[in-house]
Amino acid sequence: MQILVTGGTGYIGSHTVVELLKSGKEVVIVDNLSNSSKNVIDNIEKITNKKCKFYEIDIRDEKGLEKVFEENDIEAVIHFAGLKAVGESVVKPLEYYDNNVIGTIKLLEVMKKFVCKKMVFSSSATVYGDPGNPKYVEDMGRGKASSPYGATKAVIEEMLESLYIADNEWTISLLRYFNPIGAHESGLIGENPNGIPNNLMPYIQKVAIGELKELSIFGDNYNTKDGTCIRDYIHVVDLAVGHMKALQKLNKPGVYIHNLGTGAGTSVLDIVKTFEKVNNIKVNYKFAPRRAGDLPEFFADPSKAKSELDWEAKRGIEEMCRDSWNFISKNRNS
Ligand code: NAD
Ligand code: WQD
Repeated sequence: MQILVTGGTGYIGSHTVVELLKSGKEVVIVDNLSNSSKNVIDNIEKITNKKCKFYEIDIRDEKGLEKVFEENDIEAVIHFAGLKAVGESVVKPLEYYDNNVIGTIKLLEVMKKFVCKKMVFSSSATVYGDPGNPKYVEDMGRGKASSPYGATKAVIEEMLESLYIADNEWTISLLRYFNPIGAHESGLIGENPNGIPNNLMPYIQKVAIGELKELSIFGDNYNTKDGTCIRDYIHVVDLAVGHMKALQKLNKPGVYIHNLGTGAGTSVLDIVKTFEKVNNIKVNYKFAPRRAGDLPEFFADPSKAKSELDWEAKRGIEEMCRDSWNFISKNRNS
């Protein structure tokens, strides 16, 4: 029996594949390489000393997916494949709905055909919208999405809930991630987006290696301890372990929702200062106007994941900053 990981060569997917292989699972990856590269497979194999099967397939390609299910005995799917750039989704909403929502429908149809009814889905804290309280708890429900990207996550969550109502043999885990950063301690896998990054840590990494001049910190006058926004940053390896736990613990049909965050809020300035301190490197920055759509502060209530999945984040901000630098300094030209 194997675990199918869609988007398995991507940032979070690759770290999850490492944890799966380490735990003795057999893994099949499906990825269209639209935001990752095939080298990731070699690096996963270097870290784990184990092999995984790879198919370069788009999840909207039903025939291709059917072949994957025919050639393997898939017991569950961890579904990461999707587009994730919030700003791009505002400019290209149809591409986001097509890739994320239609892609998920195609995948579910093939799973149904092959009677594989267990899925762990990459959702996001963005589905809470702006609930008016910075501590996000699963039972707050979904709010109004602030971008087409966020809307695709909310629609997929609803679709999966409807699917369970229609057929209660499905076991579905909706994992709502907060802000994943960091990299595997080996420095062999991590996040290195093409072009100018949108997210904080990839931007800091590019400033630190001298590829970009300075970081713009969006807003210095929020009502927070130092005026900059607060988020719940989580180490990508902790996140990967959370997927393992969800797979192990969720053995009864149903739809289960869990936040994967640390529960701690960290400001943008805290991240910059910690990155400088632990890596002994300067990160040039300036203050810039607020970014449209940013909330001043939010973080997870992770207690449900702790009690139901026996999972909690173990790595702190220092480790996240150290591992992010270790990865980028070893991969600056790739
Ligand atoms: P990523 O872009 O590194 O990984 C996604 C992978 O999916 C890439 O390898 C890409 O090539 C692949 N892919 C995209 N569309 C595909 C398709 N149609 N068919 C096959 N493969 C396809 O992103 P990530 O940061 O690893 O995110 C993984 C998942 O987690 C995404 O669904 C994302 O929305 C979600 N998520 C990410 C964050 C974050 O901040 N990184 C936060 C919350 C949720
Ligand atoms: C973090 C903080 C910025 C860049 C996004 C998605 C969310 C989820 C995680 C997928 C904010 C500040 C950033 C920069 C800055 N992804 N910042 N200068 O916006 O919290 O969440 O990624 O589901 O859905 O919206 O993450 O890394 O972009 O920003 O000052 O150049 O860093 O203002 O306060 P965000 P981020």
